[in-house]
Amino acid sequence: MEKIGVFTSGGDAPGMNACIRAVVRTAIYHGLEVVGIMEGYQGIVDKNFIPMTADSVSNIIQQGGTILKSARCTQFRTKKGRKKAYKNLKEAGIDGVVAIGGDGTFTGAAIFMQEYPDINFVGCPGTIDNDLHGTDFTIGYDTAINTAMEAIDKIKDTANADARLFFIEVMGRDVGFIALRSCIATGAETVLMPETSTNIKALVKTISEHYERKKASIIIIVAEGEEMGGAVKVAKKVSKKFTALSSRVTILGHIQRGGRPTAMERVNASWMGLEAVKALIAGEKGIMIGIVNNKVAHTSFEKAIKHNQEISPTLLEMVKVLA
Ligand code: F6P
Repeated sequence: MEKIGVFTSGGDAPGMNACIRAVVRTAIYHGLEVVGIMEGYQGIVDKNFIPMTADSVSNIIQQGGTILKSARCTQFRTKKGRKKAYKNLKEAGIDGVVAIGGDGTFTGAAIFMQEYPDINFVGCPGTIDNDLHGTDFTIGYDTAINTAMEAIDKIKDTANADARLFFIEVMGRDVGFIALRSCIATGAETVLMPETSTNIKALVKTISEHYERKKASIIIIVAEGEEMGGAVKVAKKVSKKFTALSSRVTILGHIQRGGRPTAMERVNASWMGLEAVKALIAGEKGIMIGIVNNKVAHTSFEKAIKHNQEISPTLLEMVKVLA
C-alpha cells in the first residue's frame, strides 16, 4: 500500500476532524501518501481529491464539523456510479480508503468492495447516534451528550423558576443512547426512547408522583425516534392531564451535531484514525475500528451496521431509582 484516501460521509459529527488528522499524520508517519476526498462518496465519483500534508490538518483537532465536508451521493448507489468511482481511485493510485461515517457509509463500502475487491476500505464510526455495533462510543456521541446536557441544564434553570413541566426532544434517529445518557447526566425525571414502549398512563403516573413530591420542575427527555413520534406529540397527550402545571416543549435539534469535541472525543477519534491506517497497512479490509472496554476492536461492516446495540439495564435502573 502506497497511497490512501480519507473521507467523511453521512451526518457530520464532532471529532471527525480529529480522526482525519490522525489518519493523515499516521499515514505520513508510516511513509504513505494520503489524499483527502471531499464530500464523501460524491468526491470519489467526481474525483474531488486533495493532497494532504501533515500541515494541512494543523489546528483542526478542536473544530466541530468536518474539513472534508459530507454529502449524500445518489450516483454511488448505482453500478455506473461505483464503476466511475473505481476508475477514479485507480487513476489516482489509491489502494486503501478510510471511511469515517455511519451505517450508510459502511453499507456503501461493503457493496463497493464486493464489486472491486482490490481497493481496501476500513471504517471509523462517525455518528452522534452511537448506533453501530462493535464500539462502545462512536465519534460525536460523547460531545452530543455533553451538548444536550448543557442545554438541558439551562432549561432546568428556567423550569425550576416557574415549576414547569418540560418535554425535551433529543436526536438519535432510531436509537435512544443520547436520550438515556443525557437524562441520567441531568437528573431528568424520566426518558422515552425507541428501545422501550411509550406508555402514556405510566408516564402520567410518573409525572404525578414527581408533582406530589413538589419537585422544583419536571423534565421528560424524549428521543426523536420514540414510538409516539417525538416530544410535541407526547406533550399534547400528557399536558392536558396537568392543568395546574404549565408545560413547554423544546427540540434541541442540530445544536447536538456541532461544537468543539470533548477531550474524550478527540482522544478516541484520534485513536480510531491511527488504528484504521495501521489496519490498512496490515492488509485488513471491510472492517470498522471500534473501542470496546478500552481496547481496539475490529468488526466487519456487515456486523457493525446490524443495529443490535443493547441498552444497558443498569442505565435504565439508574433513571428509575435516582430520579
Ligand atoms: O444521524 C445523525 C443525525 O443527527 C440523527 O440523530 C438525526 O435523526 C439525523 O442525523 C438528522 O439528519 P439531517 O441532518 O439530515 O436532518
